This record gives sequence, C-alpha cells and structure tokens, in this order.
Amino acid sequence: MEKSMSLEAQGLVPRRSSISRRSHIALFALTAFLAVVFFYQSLVLDHLDISHRPLGAKGHPDFDKVQQCSIDNLKSDTWFLDNAVPIKPEEFLERRDRLAKALDKNGVDAFILEPGYTFQYYGNISQVDWEPWEPEERPFLMLVMPQTSDEGEVTAQTAFLSPAFEAGRVRMLGIPSREEELDIVAWEEHWNPYTTLRESHLFKDIEEPVLMADEEIRDYIVRGLGKFGFTTVGLTPEAELVRQTKSRAEVELLRAVNTGTVQAVRAMRPCLVPGLTEDEVTTILDNSMLSIGFSLFFNIVLFEEHGALPHGGFVTGGAQLTYDTMVVIDVGAHYLGYSSDICRSFLIDPPCDHFKTKDPLAQEKDDVWHIVLDAQAAAAAAFKPNASAASIDIAARSVIEDAGYGYGFTHRLGHGIGIKAHESPYLNKWNKDVLLQAGMTFTDEPGIYLEGRFGVRHEDIYLVTEGGEAELLSGPLARGLREP
Ligand SMILES: *[C@@H]1O[C@H](CO)[C@@H](O)[C@H](O)[C@H]1NC(C)=O
Ligand SMILES: *[C@@H]1O[C@H](CO)[C@@H](O)[C@H](O)[C@H]1NC(C)=O
Repeated sequence: MEKSMSLEAQGLVPRRSSISRRSHIALFALTAFLAVVFFYQSLVLDHLDISHRPLGAKGHPDFDKVQQCSIDNLKSDTWFLDNAVPIKPEEFLERRDRLAKALDKNGVDAFILEPGYTFQYYGNISQVDWEPWEPEERPFLMLVMPQTSDEGEVTAQTAFLSPAFEAGRVRMLGIPSREEELDIVAWEEHWNPYTTLRESHLFKDIEEPVLMADEEIRDYIVRGLGKFGFTTVGLTPEAELVRQTKSRAEVELLRAVNTGTVQAVRAMRPCLVPGLTEDEVTTILDNSMLSIGFSLFFNIVLFEEHGALPHGGFVTGGAQLTYDTMVVIDVGAHYLGYSSDICRSFLIDPPCDHFKTKDPLAQEKDDVWHIVLDAQAAAAAAFKPNASAASIDIAARSVIEDAGYGYGFTHRLGHGIGIKAHESPYLNKWNKDVLLQAGMTFTDEPGIYLEGRFGVRHEDIYLVTEGGEAELLSGPLARGLREP
C-alpha cells in the first residue's frame, strides 16, 4: 500500500489536462483501494485456510510429488514380502496342543479366553465379511482343555460357550479345528451361562474344575465363573511361554512386516522437502504402507521438540519440516495378522549449497543419535538364551548413563512382539526373574529425550536364537543421521 502511494508522489502518473488528471487520480485511488482490499483479503483468507485445514490434508504444493516419490521408491523392490505366507491351519492346532501340555503341567482343567488377540492366536477368528465379534455383555468363550491319550500324550480338546442363538455364527467363524463339528455349549438368554458351563458334558465329571483366565478376559466373567462352581487362576509362565515362543512361520511374518515398515520410512526420507507438516508426513507414510498391502495400525511423526515426548502429545501435527529438524517416526502396521513396531530418527537431505551450521544444537543431535545407536547395539549383543529380561534393559541403559544422558532415557528398553505389538516379556530393569529363550522376539528401542529441544529413538526387532547371537528381523540397521 505504501508503495502505490509513493508512485503518485514521485509523479509517475502522467500529467494531462486537469479533467483527465482528476479522473486519473480517481482511477488511481480506486485501484489502490481495491489493491489494499484484495491484499488484505488474501492475507486473512490464506491465514484462515491454514488454521482451518483438516488434519492430514494435502496443503504443501509438493505433496503429491513427495507422495508419488515415496510410493515409487518403496514399490521398486518388495523383497521383504517374499517369504511371508499365512499361518497354516495345523499351526493353530499345534499352538493349542502346546498350551494343553502347559495346562496339564499346571494342573489346570481348561484355559478360557474371549474374542481378542489371544483368540486370534489360538483360533484365528477369520470371518472378515461381517462386523468383528466384539466382546459384549453375553459371554462367548473358547475353552482349551488338556486330554491325555492312552499312550500318555497330552493334546488339546477345544470347546466353546456361546449364546444359543449365536451358535450358528460361531460355526461360520472358520476356526481351524480337528473335529468335524465345533463342540459348543449353548446357553439360552434366560439361563445362567456359568452354571450351564459347569453342568455341561465338559465339566460334569470333574469335581473341582480349575480354569486359567487369559489376560484379556473381562473381570465380570471371571467373577461369574468363580461364583458358580469354578476355581479361576491367572496365567502361569508355562502358559505364557506358548505364545512368547515364535514358530518359523511367525518369525517370517514378523520379518516381513517389520522390514517393510522400516523400508517405507527409508523410501520416503529422500523425497521429503522443507515445509511439510507432521500430519502431511504421516499421510504420506500411511499411503506408502497401504500401497504394499499393509494395513494401518499407528503412525507417530514428531518434529524437533515434539520428539522429546516419546509418544508425542495432542498438540503435535502442525510443525513444519526444515533442513535442521530432527524427525522421529514411531510406526507400526499389520500384515497377515502380524504387527510391526519400529522407530527411526533422521534429518532430511540438504541442498548442495546448504550452509553447514556449526551450532552446538546440531552437534548435540549428532552425538545423541550415535549414543542411542550404541545403546541399541549393546542390547542386541545381550539378547541370549537364559539372559534375564532385566539384563537387556541394563545393557542399553548403561551406555546412555555413561554418556551422561541417563535422565533422558525415560522408558523401558522394549517388549515382546507378535500378533500384538506389545507382548510379554517386558524388557525393564526390574524384570529379573524372566529368562529369555530361543524363539522369543523383542523390540530393542532405547531413546534419549531432551525436553523442549529434541528426542532420538531407534527401534528394531530381534529374535533370540539357540546359537546365542540374536537375529535382526527388521532389515538393515540405521547407519547415520541421513541413513536411518
Ligand atoms: C485366518 O484368517 C484369515 C483372515 O483373517 C484368513 O485369510 C485365513 O485363511 C485364516 N487361516 C486359516 C488357517 O483358517
Ligand atoms: C539355560 O539354562 C538351563 C538351566 O539352567 C540350561 O540347562 C541350559 O543349557 C541353558 N541354555 C543355554 C543356551 O545356556
């Protein structure tokens, strides 16, 4: 506006007759007025547009280009999917047989579980065309009971407690089974489901039946069973070990989904440009994972000081990427029922003429990044059969403490991983009694969080092996700030 006024003041408007000069002045004033109105409007509207933009919307001019680049890079080589095949029906039966042996050892008559992750592990609730079977007020239970053959071999007998009117639906779930017909104890709406189960053919010959309750079962059901003739106990280490010990097929699925998720982050990084928001990067990564057949699970994208809260906070999403931003991405997807959970911390590529800053913050980011990597390596070297869960956490924690950042490593080192992203055993320095065994799979995810400044975390997946050296299941490790 000031510039337009000064044009006239400088006499740049040509002098003609007084009439024509007056009309010129009027025209100029109108033009200037309109220019000001237009400028102001565009400013205000632009501002409104930004602040009211829905989360994850594609606001950056290069969004589509970055999205395409990420997908193209990822799809150029999907070798990580080559060995992943769905779990075979027999494996579900083997799992139940292993559970039956544990129950027999513990003197338990049946393991009881509700629809959820454990049910998926033992029963592969496979019907996907209807709405999923959510735990509702009517108990629907799966029961795994040990039975001993004349030769003394313990195998699983599987049965169900179902609302009578839902029994047909239970049969349609496609639960892998040895029997032609599922063994279903049905209870009518006006009956007591627990008494029905107690008096059924399953328990009528057992004097004081003992049930082991899964960790996901709801308390009112356990109390109901306890009130109407059953003794209930919690999970034992033997029963937990069944799911903790992964089969070869499970290991290959974990390798595929975790390596694929790391590759999705790696494929995206070189495409990223300054100005993209956290939400836009989340959307780009989500679409990349969808493009290779993964289903979305969680995706936390944090820039700079937002990364100092390990799981972010409710105010994140709008921060914009710069060449100096420490980006932390903690992301998990699902593939053929198995879960990934990985984390990468990185910088984007600067242009050739980018001034290399020597500021202490940039140096500290570099230092912290490498300390976390060293801590991760120390834990990886400690993953051995018979090592305690605590010792793995302590191996990583000592590296970070020795570097003077102990105060910044605020969470446990990791956890088991399988069909569920977080499974037992948990790697924290208090968990001294649980010993690692070959076949267990874990996240190794140390981090350092510097409040108000930035955070760094590296997360990869390891398999504990007989031979002693843990096997990496998430593809190549991070190698540098721009090689995550
Ligand atoms: C397990 O469930 C999935 C769908 O969730 C299905 O595609 C697969 O065939 C099932 N597997 C078995 C062995 O029934
Ligand atoms: C683990 O400990 C058990 C019992 O102490 C022992 O029998 C077994 O050989 C150990 N395994 C390894 C790999 O050290």
